[in-house]
Amino acid sequence: MLRDNRRDGNGARFANVFKPLLQAETLPPAAYTSQAFYDAELKHLFARTWNFFGHESRIPNPGDFFSETFLGVPLLFVRNRGGQVKTFANSCRHRGTRVAKGAGNCRGFRCPYHFWNYDLDGRLRGAVGMDQTQEFDAEEYGLIEFETQCRCGFIFVRLGEEAGSVDAHLGDMPEQLAAYRCENLVLADRVEFDVACNWKNHIENSVEDFHVPMVHSTTLNKLEGGYEHFSPETRGNWLVMRERHAGTRALLNEDVRHALPRIPGLYGHAAEGTNFVCLFPSTLIALTVDCVWYVELSPQGPHRTRVTLGGCFPRESMAEADFAERAAYYFKRWKIAVSEDNDITEQQLLGLKSPFAQPGRLSHLEPLIPQMAAWWVSKMMESTNALPLDPDEAALPGDLRACSHPV
Ligand code: FES
Ligand SMILES: [Fe+2]
Repeated sequence: MLRDNRRDGNGARFANVFKPLLQAETLPPAAYTSQAFYDAELKHLFARTWNFFGHESRIPNPGDFFSETFLGVPLLFVRNRGGQVKTFANSCRHRGTRVAKGAGNCRGFRCPYHFWNYDLDGRLRGAVGMDQTQEFDAEEYGLIEFETQCRCGFIFVRLGEEAGSVDAHLGDMPEQLAAYRCENLVLADRVEFDVACNWKNHIENSVEDFHVPMVHSTTLNKLEGGYEHFSPETRGNWLVMRERHAGTRALLNEDVRHALPRIPGLYGHAAEGTNFVCLFPSTLIALTVDCVWYVELSPQGPHRTRVTLGGCFPRESMAEADFAERAAYYFKRWKIAVSEDNDITEQQLLGLKSPFAQPGRLSHLEPLIPQMAAWWVSKMMESTNALPLDPDEAALPGDLRACSHPV
């Protein structure tokens, strides 16, 4: 899946990322800490890929909407009358004001400034005070729309043309996860965390369970009956860590008696454990026998990430009389685990900010880390033909430069 498109020059500095696991190095610290790298990621990576915005059941009915700012771009997500999810730039075509905030249900959007009206397809339906304006055609002043596609029940948006098709992006992920029928699941709740980490710290943490006995020593560490894990081949921009074990992976041992019914119709590997999917660039989707949860990352800067946890269940489980009470045990486990992961990634970034930090070496227990790093380097080089920066120049105080990143 990963292309080794190293080049001379800047790219050569990242050559160790592409080596086999036991010879590989991590990305250089500057890739996590520097503003310049972050700016380049926005332009060359996030703007050129499909980004994940949670489960479409967040807006199940026509007129349901939510707004959120992604990479500094205010976006507006809405389900139109025809049942399609649409994404618009949340900027009025008059003088730029956000046309909606928060979430809710509406028949259309009215800009709060001068009351221009837009319908659920973003068309300008009413432009107050514009009757004398010359050569003004309302049809040309609809909200700017971004291509939006739903796959496996999840919302994907591309901000730029260069992202290609969503199906090419996802590759065989929908096929490998078909047994879960994620499109039939329903988002029960979502929780946001503001975390002082680089987004790559968090997604890398999601693709290794090496840290589980240490970081989650008193919480997730013990899984009754143990488990085996492996990482099957994937095609597309995703990786998976698959675990085989009994029962659900979404409850603490002490709470397993509260387990909800299994997802109806599970078969194959899906019926026998859990899939932890890393969907590039920045999403974890964990699929176990009774539910699916995701961790969606929204980079806020090189040192800050909005981490959103979403929990989805089958409709049949949500119809159980005591669903809310039992689902609370799932959210308890997820919040504990995500909070522990948030804390450790904050500690990691603090260490990486040191001018003495160096690229690290990897264990056989974290095979997906260099694959993630190789994807990052390949993607960044794809559009620029060379990484935009020399990492030595990116973040290090000049007088300490000689102490770190020797070349
Ligand atoms: S800025 Fe929206 S109506 Fe004026
Ligand atoms: Fe963890």
